Amino acid sequence: LKVGIILGGMSSEREVSLNSGRNVYDNLDAEFYEGVPVFMDAQGGLWILPWHLISQNTTRDITERLKGEARRIAYEDLKKEIDFAFISLHGKYGDDGCIQGLLELLRIPYTGPGVMASALGMDKHLQQKILRAAGVAVPESLLVREEEWRQDSQIVKDRVKEFPGYPCFTKPIREGSSVGVTVVRDEADLERGMEDALKWDRAVLVEEYLEGREFSCIVLEEEGQFHPLELTEIHPQSEFFTYDDKYMPGRCRKFTPPKTIPPDVTEQIKAEVIRAFKALGFRSYGRIDGFILNDGRILITDPNSSSGMAPSSFFFEQAACAGMLPSMIITTLIENAIR
Ligand code: DAL
Repeated sequence: LKVGIILGGMSSEREVSLNSGRNVYDNLDAEFYEGVPVFMDAQGGLWILPWHLISQNTTRDITERLKGEARRIAYEDLKKEIDFAFISLHGKYGDDGCIQGLLELLRIPYTGPGVMASALGMDKHLQQKILRAAGVAVPESLLVREEEWRQDSQIVKDRVKEFPGYPCFTKPIREGSSVGVTVVRDEADLERGMEDALKWDRAVLVEEYLEGREFSCIVLEEEGQFHPLELTEIHPQSEFFTYDDKYMPGRCRKFTPPKTIPPDVTEQIKAEVIRAFKALGFRSYGRIDGFILNDGRILITDPNSSSGMAPSSFFFEQAACAGMLPSMIITTLIENAIR
């Protein structure tokens, strides 16, 4: 089976995607699969890459070398190059339903959920609405569209003061890896938070600031059976789990399984995680992140229809706890999708 590993992409997470895709390629079981690196450039063009180009480089290095060393293909020709797509893209156009839509049109099977669930996995506002309706506890939040902010920021400031109040987060509604997220301490800070978030999207979710313990849980789904892996507890160095905490070595301590979460609470968390996974229509796998508040309540804060797959990711740590080598879990995701 020719497995196209789609990586790079148009989003702010293209470097993260490269690390994920490179690692997926390295751990693809060569006995069954032939890996074909498919690089999406920053304009959305697709290129078949020779392996040496992704083995070390950044997306910028690769982009500079595409013309001489890679082969550009039209979207409709992807079907001639690969039998299956392992989506290692993250963020906009990557795990938000766009690439999934293209693959549907081309009739190429792919990892993870379909168009609608992927779009919901990306949209922080809509996913909260659906999760609330399904009885899953999520943070309190307020949606602010760019027009409202530009028309009269004082009205927005007054609303935020009332609800959710300070401190709070400002988050672009559709970004990953904490890009554009700010902790806003007071009204003077709101300006900075809103403008940062609006660089990335046209709407911002102003969300309550949570105090507690943060967890992350990979779920594997096979034929309607849901298997949450061991939880990871996250201790970021910053005041929240920032991009740097996520990807710079040594910036975050993580415990898989957690040291301080009692078994009965772990079971409650896993039940909530599965509830969230099902409510959003996720398929095959996903990563659900959340908080145990100091008062004991469990909130789901960030359901992801995919996951970063760098060697140090929660994904492989949790898989290892379940006795699965990277190659085994990658095979599982592929086989789940083509079954
Ligand atoms: N958005 C990143 C890749 C993650 O959730 O792991």
